[in-house]
Amino acid sequence: MHLPMFVATTLGDEILDLKKQRRAILLAHHYQAPEIQELADVVGDSLELARKALAFEGDVIAFCGVWFMAETAKVLNPHRVVVVPDREASCSLVDSCPVQPVREFRRAHPEYTIVSYINTSIEVKAESDILCTSRNAVKVVNSIPPEKPILFLPDVNLGNYVKRQTGRANLKIWQGACIVHATFAARKLAEVQVQHPEAQIVAHPECPEAVLAMADFVGSTSAIIEYCAASQAREFIVMTESGIQYSLEHKAAGKRFYFVPNENCNCSECPYMKLNTLEKLRDCLETLEPRVELPAETMARALAPLERMLAVK
Ligand code: 13P
Ligand code: SF4
Repeated sequence: MHLPMFVATTLGDEILDLKKQRRAILLAHHYQAPEIQELADVVGDSLELARKALAFEGDVIAFCGVWFMAETAKVLNPHRVVVVPDREASCSLVDSCPVQPVREFRRAHPEYTIVSYINTSIEVKAESDILCTSRNAVKVVNSIPPEKPILFLPDVNLGNYVKRQTGRANLKIWQGACIVHATFAARKLAEVQVQHPEAQIVAHPECPEAVLAMADFVGSTSAIIEYCAASQAREFIVMTESGIQYSLEHKAAGKRFYFVPNENCNCSECPYMKLNTLEKLRDCLETLEPRVELPAETMARALAPLERMLAVK
């Protein structure tokens, strides 16, 4: 596709010009760098971004998030170009769940309903009965007849949280983990709590049970933002990726937010999410690479569990 010449003063202007020329939408997850969120048409959690991708009109989706989220957008928009600024923007949960053992489980246990977290590869989604996100996982599991055994994959902490919330005994859980949330320690949280005794604790369900047990609220990234905005409290200890601070400061202005460094990097950042930069976003709009390309047959099989999830109210 030939692009007309443009004059841009800053990288941000360049990106907005390219966006117009490409008839693109910029979708950004809450964990993206602030300068990316600033330019995005929509900032949201994985469920909101999947819904936006469904409703979109235009030619190109520039997905500022991680690869599995962009694959989801592609499944919903097979005729549109979907690009991600950095091809290496993956997720430890995706890596923890290769497709072959999932296929073997399905073959050996056809009676099980496979509920897959959206943080999985397209191949795993294609082997699943229904998908879920951190926002709707409890609702999705409750939508399955109680007598049906479930395999929940791949996040062990989210799986255990869902099991506690639904009281469902017949739920087997994969042992995958998020390198960011699973390494938040209750001990460090308690230290920060001593420094800010008035603060409420809000946590993403990918955190370990000991952290969730201390939380006043557990929810997806957008649910955490909504909770902090609506709450009477003025201070919050936030147990999720620190990119969320951008939206917290916009939507819950004037309140204070504290982050607890995890055991991995002594920070609260997802290294995959942070691979995307403004320069790479500009480049991907220019070259339309790296582009999500998936086999039609796999996309068709992944669409069914995705649509089942989107139908759960
Ligand atoms: P959300 O569903 O809250 O967007 O979370 C996605 C994710 O990757 C959390 O680590
Ligand atoms: Fe994956 Fe964790 Fe990063 Fe979310 S924060 S994208 S679950 S590695």
